[in-house]
Amino acid sequence: MKIKVAASIIASDFSCLEREIKKVEQAGIDILHIDIMDGHFVPNITIGPDVVRCISKITSLPLDVHLMIKKPERFIDDFIKAGSNMLTVHIETISVLGIRRQVSRLKPKGIRWGVSLNPATPLERIKPVLKYVDFVLVMSVNPGFSGQEFIPAVIPKIKKLRSIFEGDISVDGGINDKVAPRLIQAGANILASGSYIFSAKDTRLAIEKLKNMGR
Ligand code: DX5
Ligand code: ZN
Repeated sequence: MKIKVAASIIASDFSCLEREIKKVEQAGIDILHIDIMDGHFVPNITIGPDVVRCISKITSLPLDVHLMIKKPERFIDDFIKAGSNMLTVHIETISVLGIRRQVSRLKPKGIRWGVSLNPATPLERIKPVLKYVDFVLVMSVNPGFSGQEFIPAVIPKIKKLRSIFEGDISVDGGINDKVAPRLIQAGANILASGSYIFSAKDTRLAIEKLKNMGR
């Protein structure tokens, strides 16, 4: 299976964000993962649509915007206008009907939609929306911070999901070359990784290692 790697910029040095993005872009990353945190749904705050707009101007990578915010409906249009290509909402923050409405309203704009679920949220919660979304972002840490340890208990969830879902399965949190093989074996095909990639001495090699796991 072809594995795509998303670099999560939360783990980059924001004082030189453009340089950090170019670094991972040149090292062969497929997707730029942008964590949006509001200090309510998660105990941390990151960036908003204005910064996403600036990022969209300096890269041609697809922007995968991971909304960890309460009432995401309020900001979806702003993030689309800012240049998001992939948008993920958490099932803990929006109803099934809400997701259905947003997806059908904005699908013509060519956005790829994802639904995410926290490690403690059972798969059953997202089953009703699987027919509307392009991908599922399975959280393998409790959202809020990069650099946390991968939670192995999510692996059976990925396996079960793969048996009922044909779209992309992305996993996010604590991913490195040690845990990646188990995720791919379970059925994941996109790996979102922050600290492992941005702290690597050899960025290209770190990315290659994740990608080659699928071969
Ligand atoms: C967690 C974020 C993840 C995470 C990735 O809330 O959604 O994108 O920070 O960073 P690492 O790979 O360092 O866990
Ligand atoms: Zn994320």
